[in-house]
Amino acid sequence: MKTILQQKDFLDSIKPLISSSMGTEEMAPLLYSIIKFTRPHRVLEIGAGLTSIYILAALSELSSIEKNEFDGNSVGYDPSLKNEEYYKMNHSNFILHSFDNLGHPETSANKVLEVSKKLDLDKYLKFWNNDYLEINKLIPEKERSFDLIWCDLGGLNNYLNQREILFPLLSDKVGSYIIFHSTLSNVHGLAFLNHLKLSIYQGQLPGFELVSLFEPQKKRQNSCTIIRKARGISNRIYSERP
Ligand SMILES: C[S@@+](CC[C@H](N)C(=O)[O-])C[C@H]1O[C@@H](n2cnc3c(N)ncnc32)[C@H](O)[C@@H]1O
Repeated sequence: MKTILQQKDFLDSIKPLISSSMGTEEMAPLLYSIIKFTRPHRVLEIGAGLTSIYILAALSELSSIEKNEFDGNSVGYDPSLKNEEYYKMNHSNFILHSFDNLGHPETSANKVLEVSKKLDLDKYLKFWNNDYLEINKLIPEKERSFDLIWCDLGGLNNYLNQREILFPLLSDKVGSYIIFHSTLSNVHGLAFLNHLKLSIYQGQLPGFELVSLFEPQKKRQNSCTIIRKARGISNRIYSERP
């Protein structure tokens, strides 16, 4: 099956969203792959643009894949590996909540809705032209749970606000992830990262683990840190050998 990314229409349509100063040219496809891999149903994004469309593409593909799988049709992997526990769960609909107050002069967030409509991906998008600090006021409590949160808005103050506001929104059922952009090779990012590592080490974030990835060819906008909240079925031992 051709993925959305391989379609010419996709590559043409995303051109207006590419902003070289945002540095997400490799991050966006990485997020797409992480989402295909970890299957989050509810995704939250802080800072919209190119990444939004790759996230939507992954959610759209997962939606078709899971419809097939849950209808009892064939799966795209060895059926003997099937985890029945996953398929017995009630999963939420696939959705991306994306926050951007359009405050950045070079933002391409203002084009996300239009491009998503063109690519027929808008049914998976709830775009909030708001400050992310208002999230708890804007999204009803029963919907304030996310399997993957992507934070593309740096600066120490934002990192600390995001830690306080967003960590409590991470879901528990199959484990969840929060990913921060640009955490390495800059003072704010590294201060935040060390603060987080200390919290994990001191037991303030039980069951959390962290890894950072680095793009060595760039001096800025060159990294991300992925934090996993290990919960639910992601914590099981299912077999003796890998
Ligand atoms: C680094 S850019 C996001 C880049 C985007 N992910 C991409 O792939 O192109 C950060 C975005 O956050 C937005 N922003 C800045 N402050 C914000 C705030 N307090 N709440 C919501 N969005 C904000 C800016 O308008 C900008 O579009």
